[in-house]
Amino acid sequence: MAAIPSGTMGAPEACTVVIFGASGDLTKRKLVPALHSLAAAGQLPRNFSVVGYARSGLSNEEFRLRMRQAVSEYGSCTAGERSAWEKFAQDLVYVRGGFEEEGYRRLKETLAAIEGKSGSTKNRIFYLATPPGLYAPIMRQIAAAGLARKDQPGTGWTRVVIEKPFGKDLETARELGRQVHEAFDERQVYRIDHYLGKETVQNILVFRFANAVFEPIWNRRYVDHVQITAAESMGVEHRGGYYEKAGVIRDMFQNHLLQLLCLTAMEPPIAFTADAVRDEKVKVLRSVQPISPEEVDQVAVRGQYGHEKLGDNEVKAYREEDGVAPDSTRETYAAVKLLIENWRWEGVPFYLRSGKRLPKKITEIAIHFKQPPLLLFKACPIEKVSPNVLLLRIQPDEGISLTFEVKPPGSEICVNSLSLDFNYRGAFGAAPPEAYETLLLDCMRGDSTLFTRHDWVELAWFLMDPILRCWESKLPEDFPNYAAGSSGPRQADALIESDRRRWRQS
Ligand SMILES: NC(=O)c1ccc[n+]([C@@H]2O[C@H](COP(=O)([O-])OP(=O)(O)OC[C@H]3O[C@@H](n4cnc5c(N)ncnc54)[C@H](OP(=O)(O)O)[C@@H]3O)[C@@H](O)[C@H]2O)c1
Repeated sequence: MAAIPSGTMGAPEACTVVIFGASGDLTKRKLVPALHSLAAAGQLPRNFSVVGYARSGLSNEEFRLRMRQAVSEYGSCTAGERSAWEKFAQDLVYVRGGFEEEGYRRLKETLAAIEGKSGSTKNRIFYLATPPGLYAPIMRQIAAAGLARKDQPGTGWTRVVIEKPFGKDLETARELGRQVHEAFDERQVYRIDHYLGKETVQNILVFRFANAVFEPIWNRRYVDHVQITAAESMGVEHRGGYYEKAGVIRDMFQNHLLQLLCLTAMEPPIAFTADAVRDEKVKVLRSVQPISPEEVDQVAVRGQYGHEKLGDNEVKAYREEDGVAPDSTRETYAAVKLLIENWRWEGVPFYLRSGKRLPKKITEIAIHFKQPPLLLFKACPIEKVSPNVLLLRIQPDEGISLTFEVKPPGSEICVNSLSLDFNYRGAFGAAPPEAYETLLLDCMRGDSTLFTRHDWVELAWFLMDPILRCWESKLPEDFPNYAAGSSGPRQADALIESDRRRWRQS
């Protein structure tokens, strides 16, 4: 089986991963379980260590115990693979520290001790799993401690991983970019969007560019429009405080949905290398028609879920959630129409929607093809001939399906829709690796294809900023405007129906 897109295959070089925020949620739910799974699968180098760094006073033993519980609770290893824990735990250490020099001195000594013992090169990954407001001060401290070395042959490499959000608008993203680049070169920076580590997201590129049948029809001549949906059935849960500041545009559109749009719309890259793929994605964003402040109301709608009784369950309104203001105007749903002004897509609308408390958790890309000429089927009621839809299902039921029209048995010429279906689990059996496993391994190998480059981040904010600014200056008067469990506000239907199209019912 050919392996794509990770560029540099094989086991990574010996390295140490330093996790800032080692006592936090991301470390226990994702990072350490993913690293442990990689270790259990024999995918880590022989000399490999993890250093946890945070302010909490933990001994090495306490840290290991916590991480052991995390691996049992959140890890995907089988019982047999859990025996890999003992070896993994030996190379797991904790350094207590905040922003003070003393903490960074201890960190430097710990790294020197680890690397001295193994005699390995100074290959280091600094993973910033802290609140985003701490990224800049932590990077400054890393640099001040002399740990942000530029890569030079023979001296080992240094990489820094940062978690989204990368700013909260264009201005703050630019500022963050400037601060990051004060300490590190762009080539050393790995911005994680865990969506890109999902197997089915990577499969979009393989599906598009490894099959000759789709490429000739993947354009304005055959595609009528594209719908990209990321729906959640849950509300904001315990993340009310975060969501009040973010909202769905920052939480989903500026990153995940625009990434999916780029993968769907990009031109074939000249190679499966980080810069070639990322150059093409940047070109897509450059081709998206910017939305002027006057146009926002015509191309974007927002919503907020209200209280509803679903079966025997009383579902809270967003305004009743913990950490949310009782008169909050924060949007939990948005639908946006974007146009890509290039040779391939001119005139083909891309409709993006995402929201909380929708009927189903689903992420998918639906390519709606044009209606064929129906002259031959005049005898059939026209609404029975459905245009073909190619559906790329990202989650939860990962796979691909294509709807097409067939004649049901009988003497009359009639048309029915059926679908050709490919299901990931059914085809390959095993569950795909966790996104964090793929991304951590890629980072160790120095393959940044699936990581977000700074120019992409800025362009994505540039496109979303007018919507954010317009909505924040013009408060909604009709919130809540959709019921929990419904398919969103009626304004979203009006947005697409004014173009004589309809949302796909998933
Ligand atoms: N949780 C998730 O599933 C998830 C998913 C996607 C992205 N993210 C992103 O990942 C990042 C971390 O999220 P989280 O949920 O893990 O946050 P969290 O649970 O609040 O953890 C934050 C961590 O930062 C540590 N910390 C605070 N000040 C520090 C300092 N000066 N130096 C080093 N560590 C410091 C805290 O520990 P002490 O108090 O002990 O210092 C704690 O370990 C955020 O940017 C978030 O947006 C999280």
